Amino acid sequence: MSRHPFTDTVVRWFATHGRELPWRGIGDPYAIWLSEVILQQTRIAQGTDYWIRFIQTFPTIGDLARASQDQVMRLWQGLGYYSRARHLHQAARQVVELGYFPDNYKQLRQLSGVGDYTAAAIASMAFGEPVAAVDGNVFRVLARHFGIDTPINTTRGKRQFTELAQSLLPVDEPGTFNQAMMDFGALQCTPSAPACRQCPLEASCAACAQGLVGKLPVKNKTLQIKRRDITYVYLRCHGKTAIRQRPAGDIWQGLWEPPAFEDGHLPPWQGRLTLLKQNVLHVLTHRRIVATFYLLDSDTPPTTLPPDYIWIDESEIDHYALPRLVEKLIELLTKHTKH
Ligand code: ADE
Repeated sequence: MSRHPFTDTVVRWFATHGRELPWRGIGDPYAIWLSEVILQQTRIAQGTDYWIRFIQTFPTIGDLARASQDQVMRLWQGLGYYSRARHLHQAARQVVELGYFPDNYKQLRQLSGVGDYTAAAIASMAFGEPVAAVDGNVFRVLARHFGIDTPINTTRGKRQFTELAQSLLPVDEPGTFNQAMMDFGALQCTPSAPACRQCPLEASCAACAQGLVGKLPVKNKTLQIKRRDITYVYLRCHGKTAIRQRPAGDIWQGLWEPPAFEDGHLPPWQGRLTLLKQNVLHVLTHRRIVATFYLLDSDTPPTTLPPDYIWIDESEIDHYALPRLVEKLIELLTKHTKH
């Protein structure tokens, strides 16, 4: 099998310089998944401590699934981005319900909180599936080595770097390559002041040759924080509610939500309409969302609800991956319903 010289060099570098991390080389998808979720926004040293505590407290995914949300949140305390913990717990329950740990990219991607990167990381490291896991480290290494100035925070950039990573991936050891790229980005091709003189890829590095190491990768800064108004109408009809999965090409792709309206007009649906809350501020990286939440109690489902909505038992909404904003709506609703 012929490999790109880049691939050979990175894999060889990894054999001597790769980090020894407790979840490496054990092939346990649960342990790997846990490490990837923790490391998404956390440094390795801090993340490793939390990983050890999690594995000690919940040695198997069944233990995690059986824990209470509170217990999981408490163990997560201090790591931030708490939606990760909620998704983690939810996904553990999904896996237990499924009866086995999903063993391929496509199925892994269905798990709550598991995105393209995490699904690829688990699929390659635990199951040897040849899919490239592309994170910030990988963007940086590829942008510099191949001299690519496509902004990494654009759809086009993500696609381009993912395709390039995929073309470099050795099918016989995808997990090793993916981890090699992460470590190479974290230890060798660092964001600032990388040690290019000691880099095994210096001779073939486009950024090095052109003096562009400090200029790559390019990130678009022109994306403005735009305001977006969203009104959610939570439907309640004989213990059921309607949700749909958000389409591609917009925020929250693949997450579930109740009917949403952005033009300020609500449809003339029958039922008892209650305003739960107005002016709920929700800040995303490139959006400032101002939300309004309604509850609509009705005996009959609205006839004009588009066909992509599904009706689920209200008690099962936790089984779906929801944007944090929709979780806020559910929390308010729970309080409202209790009273
Ligand atoms: N960052 C996120 N996942 C990682 C992994 N598996 N190895 C090294 N760094 C990482």
